[in-house]
Amino acid sequence: MQLIIKEDYSEMTDAALEVFLKYFPESAVLGFATGNTPILLYEKLSKLCKEGKISFRDKISFNLDEYYGISTKDKRSYRYYMDSLLFCNIDMQKKNIHFPDGEAPEADAVARYAKEFDALGPIDLQILGIGKNGHIAFNEPGSGIYSRTRVVDLQDETIERNDAPVQRAITMGMKEILSAKTIILMASGKDKSDALFATIKEPPSPSTPASFLQSHRNTYIFADKAAACRL
Ligand code: GLP
Repeated sequence: MQLIIKEDYSEMTDAALEVFLKYFPESAVLGFATGNTPILLYEKLSKLCKEGKISFRDKISFNLDEYYGISTKDKRSYRYYMDSLLFCNIDMQKKNIHFPDGEAPEADAVARYAKEFDALGPIDLQILGIGKNGHIAFNEPGSGIYSRTRVVDLQDETIERNDAPVQRAITMGMKEILSAKTIILMASGKDKSDALFATIKEPPSPSTPASFLQSHRNTYIFADKAAACRL
């Protein structure tokens, strides 16, 4: 893992953008995350695409997760977030956007997403945030390194912090995430400092799923000073 610490959220995003753009030309399959942390990165990617400096026309994307049990048209869905913050601003072809289905029966939704991933994956360039409790995607504490795409129960802390509309989510597993060729994880703010400490300094363990990134061969962790204050 390479750790890059920057003064604040804005500088951290610029540094992450630089590495994203370095790998972008050779990356056919992109992995996107939701949450507040990547918002500025998505704004910057939208701007670059609108200016004609980059194109997503031939890219394929997979999103990490979706709340389970709400419609994609629901403003609280991750699909709505991605459509409004990124997909509507860039030239990706709709058929190339892959998203977990939060409405289909559980077994069908999981099987379909796993099948799409097996056919088109692994991901070349994966963006990640991190939960306050060390989750990545919705792999909550307790998730094993070999966990696969599945529907999970969200922990109370996550439901509260995310103001989650439902108590369950469909998520890629750690196995799919760790198969990505390059990973860019971003962490901002003091409330991520314990999770970041455990991710980087403690032995890998299901109690901090992000700590499994220690075994990944090409992970960049971008943190602002507040998130890195315990390192
Ligand atoms: C959610 C998402 C994660 C994300 C996390 C952090 O739980 N499932 O993929 O990393 O939120 O969100 P934020 O960036 O808002 O702190």
